[in-house]
Amino acid sequence: MSKVFVTDHPLIQHKLSYIRDKNTGTKDFRDLVEEVAMLMAYEITRDLSLSEQTIETPVCEATVKKIAGKKLGIIPILRAGLGMVDGVLRLIPAAKVGHIGLYRDPETLEPVEYYCKLPTDVEERELIVIDPMLATGGSAVAAIQFLKDRGAQNIKLMCLIAAPEGIEKVQKHHDDVDIYVAAVDEKLNKKGYIVPGLGDAGDRLFGTK
Ligand code: URA
Repeated sequence: MSKVFVTDHPLIQHKLSYIRDKNTGTKDFRDLVEEVAMLMAYEITRDLSLSEQTIETPVCEATVKKIAGKKLGIIPILRAGLGMVDGVLRLIPAAKVGHIGLYRDPETLEPVEYYCKLPTDVEERELIVIDPMLATGGSAVAAIQFLKDRGAQNIKLMCLIAAPEGIEKVQKHHDDVDIYVAAVDEKLNKKGYIVPGLGDAGDRLFGTK
């Protein structure tokens, strides 16, 4: 069974409170989502391996630790996932970024891929799929499956807010994918919104309706 990590650092929880508030405008919302994504990236990279190197400080030779050349990839699910990319890149600037766009077929209600551009060596990378809202879990499950179909073997999922239904669905279909969230909310409402949630993350990020 995959693990769920709730990154409940006080700074993250403080910023998330403003993100949830309907009176927070587009610019502040966007900035805060980016900041929380950066703070969450700190947690999600906690298990990166280090290798030792010898350098010279101004005082003497020293053995220091550096990230062991791990290849990372960030995969935002369009469009709301874009709002978290720059925050993650601030901490791991060398990461490659792939994009997956999905829409829901009105007849089958299944997610259909309309855009997919990934780093070529996706099978060698540690991938972080990002989407602010894990609601029904349909998009996340489909995006992770698209990555696995292309050879990806090492995938984590990072979201701001999850509904229990979404977590359950991801765990059911991808029990090798750990999930990182800033909060697990109460439920989904009839329209598929997370309650209490933050509304439509894409609309709030981009100022659309
Ligand atoms: N997508 C959103 O943007 N918000 C929700 O509450 C659920 C899905």
